[in-house]
Amino acid sequence: MTNATLANPHTGTVRMTAGERAGIPPRRMDFEFSDETTRYWYGDNAFLTTFWTTLSALFPEGETFFVDTVKNYRHIITEQTLKDQVSGFVGQEAMHSKEHEAFNNMATKHGLPTEKLDKELSWLFKVIRKVIPKRMQLAATVALEHYTAILAEQLLRDERHQEMFKDKEALKLWMWHALEENEHKIVAYDVYKLAGGNYAERVFTMFIATVIFFSVVGTGHIRLLWADKSLFNWKENWKGLKFLWGFNGLFPRLSGQYFDFYRPSFHPNDHDTVALLEEWRHKMLDEGGILADQIKNPSHAAKSAAA
Ligand SMILES: [Fe+2]
Ligand SMILES: [Fe+2]
Repeated sequence: MTNATLANPHTGTVRMTAGERAGIPPRRMDFEFSDETTRYWYGDNAFLTTFWTTLSALFPEGETFFVDTVKNYRHIITEQTLKDQVSGFVGQEAMHSKEHEAFNNMATKHGLPTEKLDKELSWLFKVIRKVIPKRMQLAATVALEHYTAILAEQLLRDERHQEMFKDKEALKLWMWHALEENEHKIVAYDVYKLAGGNYAERVFTMFIATVIFFSVVGTGHIRLLWADKSLFNWKENWKGLKFLWGFNGLFPRLSGQYFDFYRPSFHPNDHDTVALLEEWRHKMLDEGGILADQIKNPSHAAKSAAA
């Protein structure tokens, strides 16, 4: 079964896909980033633009790894709901990789070597796939999916982020991705639990993943700033640093949710985003919404997710 909504050409009826049934509908997008895309599309600031672009550069390889680590355990899943959720997760992540590749190509045209970062990450994952046990690989996905979920939640909750977007297409891409990261935030965790994952392994892996995450993102960010000839633009970089790390900055505000992961009884659903996602599905997918014209399989995507 594909992840797209399936229509019967004879009866005209539309059958929901597994992901749609589970409230994790893969939505087919086709964003277009033209040569006119604003160079500093986030806050008119090179530091912040290259920060988000670094994350985007790492998504295609990263999300492929996430999907593979979950698929490694697909055979042990017997419950239909979790099977459907995994299908939705796989479909959503595949679409994220595709759209971020388009975004990264635009960044490359702006002189940012995103493909180099992506390639290097693929080497890192090659090593991880070879030397780390499969369940620990899945624990790494659980840890990094926690990052994407809390980061995405902040993007959706805090209007300041939305106001920082200076390019409409970029806004659509990041908000769509943020929505779906929260729609599927429990999937890797629940599969990990089913695979016999335990507390010690989960938090140990989170600690290691955090060190690697900040090393990879930090060095990638510096390289993109260098390529942009903005590495020594002290004034703009200071502004960007404050936005990310200052009092009330992006990362300090994530710290509570981040450390929540270290609670023995933690579950991603402890962070209630039901109403927030409902609000954003309406905002983006309903008539007149920013994604209403863009979505290629709109049939059940919004309704099923809201159900
Ligand atoms: Fe994603
Ligand atoms: Fe994800």
